Amino acid sequence: MTEYETILVETRGRVGWITLNRPEALNALNTQTMTDVVAAASLFDADDAIGAIVLTGSERAFAAGADIKEMESKSGLEMFMGDHFGDWARFAAVRTPVIAAVSGYALGGGCELAMMCDIILAADSAKFGQPEINLGVIPGMGGSQRLIRAVGYYKAAELILSGRMMDAAEAERSGLVSRVVPAAELLDEAAKLADGIAAKSLPALYAAKATLDAAMEVPLAEGLRLERHVFASLFDTADQKEGMAAFREKRPPAFQGR
Ligand code: CAA
Repeated sequence: MTEYETILVETRGRVGWITLNRPEALNALNTQTMTDVVAAASLFDADDAIGAIVLTGSERAFAAGADIKEMESKSGLEMFMGDHFGDWARFAAVRTPVIAAVSGYALGGGCELAMMCDIILAADSAKFGQPEINLGVIPGMGGSQRLIRAVGYYKAAELILSGRMMDAAEAERSGLVSRVVPAAELLDEAAKLADGIAAKSLPALYAAKATLDAAMEVPLAEGLRLERHVFASLFDTADQKEGMAAFREKRPPAFQGR
């Protein structure tokens, strides 16, 4: 397996695990981390033997934001011409379902990275926020757009304008995280969830994710049209025949990913 500078990567069964690993900087997301995460996720995404990806950090921090020390001296032109966070779009575009398992701080770019994932599972120690306003800037990796879609305008506006952090319970109430679990159980719960997802039909997972993604972007009528076409197209897969035969025969399905 490829070695990376800022992350640990591991395959467990049909699940690809990516662990952010810059403990000296609370997993702050520098350019190398972006390169590493995007490369690892792209490799998992291209591999039919992988049906889910888990992205996690340390107990203390999922990620405390973009790397402030790396950005501090840059000019606006350098940020713009270097498309400083541009590659993250490739992470958000992976077709394989991605679970963010968040313990500790998910701030700024860390919160934004979690929001590029499909499911956010939080430890009871998790803290989410967009504190960029305290640095004289605003969210730059999607926070101003994705947080509103996740928690609604007024909650997002309060968090982005005040820089206040919210704890795991508030994040769950707000709809940002799907579930809160005791910190000691976070990785086991993420593994259980990911293993369950990875055992489903891969074409159906890709299809589900594509329609979910579209729902964030397109008008309802267009989304419903897309859903009907994608739903119909799945009837050409062996997995649909297997899934429905297994239901009729009262046995678990054995999906083949085609
Ligand atoms: N960038 C670079 N280094 C960071 C960092 C970041 N985002 N967050 C933490 N670190 C570093 C600290 O500088 C410190 O390093 P040193 O020991 O070398 O000084 C180390 O990580 C440990 O951090 P603290 O000593 O500050 O730990 P703490 O427990 O006292 O505080 C914290 C934890 C509240 C998360 C605090 O570190 C903090 O506020 N971090 C910055 C959070 C932030 O502002 N994030 C937004 C970044 S901008 C952004 O993300 C833009 C965007 O939208 C893409």
